[in-house]
Amino acid sequence: MGYLFGYMKPYGKMAIFAPLFMLLEVAMDVTQPKMMALIINQGVEPMDFAKILQYGVWMMVILLIGLAAGVLCNAFASVVSQNVGADLRQDLFSRVQTFTFRELDRFSTGTLITRMTNDVTQVQNFVQSAQQMMVRAPGLALGGLIMALTLNLSLGWIVGLAMITLSVFLFFLLRFSYPLFSQVQARLDDVNVVVQENLAGMRAIKAFVRRTFEMMRFGQVNERYTNIAIKAARVMALNMPVLTLIMNSSILIVLWFGGHEVWQHTMPIGNFVAYLNYVTQILSSLLMFSVIATNIAQAKVSADRISAVLQTAGSENVVADEATDATLFGAIEADHLSFSYGDDTNHELVLRDLSFRIEPGEQVAIIGSTGSGKSSFLQLLPRLYEATRGELRVDGKAISSIPLSLLRTKIGIVLQETILFRGSIRDNIAFGSPDATVDDVMRAAKIAQAHDFITRLPDGYATRIGQRGVTLSGGQKQRLAIARALLVNPSILLFDGSTSALDFKTEKLLLQALREEKQAVTTIMVAERIASIRDKEKILVLDDGQLVGAGKHEHLVATCSVYRDIYATQMGISIEDIEKQVV
Ligand SMILES: Nc1ncnc2c1ncn2[C@@H]1O[C@H](COP(=O)(O)OP(=O)(O)OP(=O)(O)O)[C@@H](O)[C@H]1O
Ligand SMILES: [Mg+2]
Repeated sequence: MGYLFGYMKPYGKMAIFAPLFMLLEVAMDVTQPKMMALIINQGVEPMDFAKILQYGVWMMVILLIGLAAGVLCNAFASVVSQNVGADLRQDLFSRVQTFTFRELDRFSTGTLITRMTNDVTQVQNFVQSAQQMMVRAPGLALGGLIMALTLNLSLGWIVGLAMITLSVFLFFLLRFSYPLFSQVQARLDDVNVVVQENLAGMRAIKAFVRRTFEMMRFGQVNERYTNIAIKAARVMALNMPVLTLIMNSSILIVLWFGGHEVWQHTMPIGNFVAYLNYVTQILSSLLMFSVIATNIAQAKVSADRISAVLQTAGSENVVADEATDATLFGAIEADHLSFSYGDDTNHELVLRDLSFRIEPGEQVAIIGSTGSGKSSFLQLLPRLYEATRGELRVDGKAISSIPLSLLRTKIGIVLQETILFRGSIRDNIAFGSPDATVDDVMRAAKIAQAHDFITRLPDGYATRIGQRGVTLSGGQKQRLAIARALLVNPSILLFDGSTSALDFKTEKLLLQALREEKQAVTTIMVAERIASIRDKEKILVLDDGQLVGAGKHEHLVATCSVYRDIYATQMGISIEDIEKQVV
């Protein structure tokens, strides 16, 4: 939590002014009962109207100074806390940008959102109150105590007793509630994750009639959160009544013993009234301590969650302008390549000992059952993940020795999941190459078979998509993603199931256009349908992370049982029939 001081440093001057003004306000606050005592003792009792007026004016001045100090303190504290919040958000955001895919896997989107919003707000409130309440509470307690004792020493034991009772009570209260707060925060995180997932996947949920299940899932996390929040609230509910009890009892005791002193004329009535005021002031400042402690507990949890993100290495550093005019030819070579998503070596391997070669300009298809590792392999090439064992080479060089910016700009990847951003169609296609001309964008869109449907949209390439924009079909989105990858003019193109949402005709046109326009580009295409790849020069068959076949369609039908199975299933014929055909 200490790192927050570092964040306050740039606003150091203001961070000092705020507590100073707060001290001034406290000084004014504890002077007031004293003034009241003076008015009563020297003005009201002897019926001296001039004195009442004189002290009354003084009291007004004190009130106004206190008011001004309070406003200034708040203003300074707000500037500091808002800035700290903004800086934290900015740092979190920049840090997440440098995360590798592996690091991104560690944090769910939901928790990152909570950390960037709710947790930052929590910390921001803490920074604000650190400059206000955390100065005010001890100031008021101490100032009130000193003033009370100067008024009357013999009643001091009542104040002492009340303070001790209250402190003991608060101590136990906080010991109970402190751990609860961190649980509340963790459960809130769960709720956010489910909400985030559901909002993002609402369509899938409806399509798969998973509504009841998801409602149940949300119901569960929501209930767990509510239960723990109620538990924490229940503990805190003791706070107010017990405090009121202690406060009122102390006032009763002061009334009893103070009353006696007034009768015996050992204490002026004004002092008696002021004393009651001080007791209230002191005890309410102790209450403030409990609020502060709650505040610290919550802020600590949030501060830790923020620092967990900030402490993550974020090892990825792609400097956009480090790109040279170097290029890649597109020869790809896997050499005993193995990969696992886990960090440790005994984690299950998703790719196992892959070895193969792809020549520059070759068009290769990868096929294999779901979960066989196709996407994982493609993501290794632009180093979205790092290989665990073995080596992956491009143009004969280990990819780890190729500058990341070169690798990423020369490898165009269309991810399995199409991600579009809010903005115009043009902006989305030009996402990886903002300087592209309109002609370039159109050429890419034409190859991707997107041009026709784009020109039919109300505003053509300027049509806005995303929030409040038009909604595109899955196939249309895929084609935009393909155009985006084509536009960066890559030497290697990777398609991850990117034609799965296209109809046969469009897919055929796309593949044909690719072959004509991008002859020199090495293309690896993950395909679901054998029909769309059977004329490829090379087909790689993956099964459970292993390469079980490589070659042309006819060769694979004859030699690779996994391929034959897929083929038979897709063609709706039996294996025996295929075997007969082959023979
Ligand atoms: N981010 C990840 N973290 C951990 N494991 C993962 C991750 N992504 C995929 N896996 C696992 O790796 C294995 C291979 O997944 P991959 O996505 O490469 O399969 P795929 O062949 O692309 O499947 P599909 O045809 O369904 O797209 C699967 O067992 C999957 O559960
Ligand atoms: Mg996949």
